[in-house]
Amino acid sequence: MGDNIVEQFYGITVEKRQVLLMQKPVLVWFTGLSGSGKSTLANQLELKLYSMGFKTYALDGDNIRAGLNKDLGFSLSDRKENIRRIGEVAKLLMDAGLIVLSSFVSPLKADRERIKQLVGSENFIEVFLDCPLEICEQRDVKGLYKKAREGKIKNFTGIDSPFEEPQKPDVHLKTNDEDASVSLKRLLTFIEDKINLVQNA
Ligand code: ADX
Repeated sequence: MGDNIVEQFYGITVEKRQVLLMQKPVLVWFTGLSGSGKSTLANQLELKLYSMGFKTYALDGDNIRAGLNKDLGFSLSDRKENIRRIGEVAKLLMDAGLIVLSSFVSPLKADRERIKQLVGSENFIEVFLDCPLEICEQRDVKGLYKKAREGKIKNFTGIDSPFEEPQKPDVHLKTNDEDASVSLKRLLTFIEDKINLVQNA
């Protein structure tokens, strides 16, 4: 903590909120290339969790960069700051008792590792959306790969900016080979165990 800053404590703790909300907060961290399906899967997962009565919030690169992080670009140092802020926001939302789903390219291992340390490794679920660059580029849903190849966008992940694949993700989804409904089911099975308050009491 910085100089002259004194931590303040409140009576309503995360444990109390867990009991009120009847769930255990975790951070589900989707990482993968642009176009690998992060936002689509996070959306499907959130709809499913909502229908089961869980309280969630989704953080998404494109959305956050339109507001809170609109001052940041795509250099590696800006991406680091992007991810750092998201980690802090996720931590606050978890402290509020929510299950957080976050979809960011987050290409650097060290940045993802920092978030894991920040929220506690037992609360962090790394989900790797493993889709070959050729496929993401073929899909090119947002037309950004084309622009990157034409040199109209610099530092594009997978083209002229690195993506460090997670070596041991908690959930490894080959979104190109596997049906989306199967991926969702596998993910849900993994998460359900961790967010159920009774099991984790
Ligand atoms: S991160 O690397 O800092 O984690 P983030 O997930 O917030 O990236 O933003 C990625 C989104 O921004 C992509 O899905 C894409 O739509 C858009 N984008 C624009 N420029 C770039 C770029 N140079 N590299 C990657 N994504 C980019």
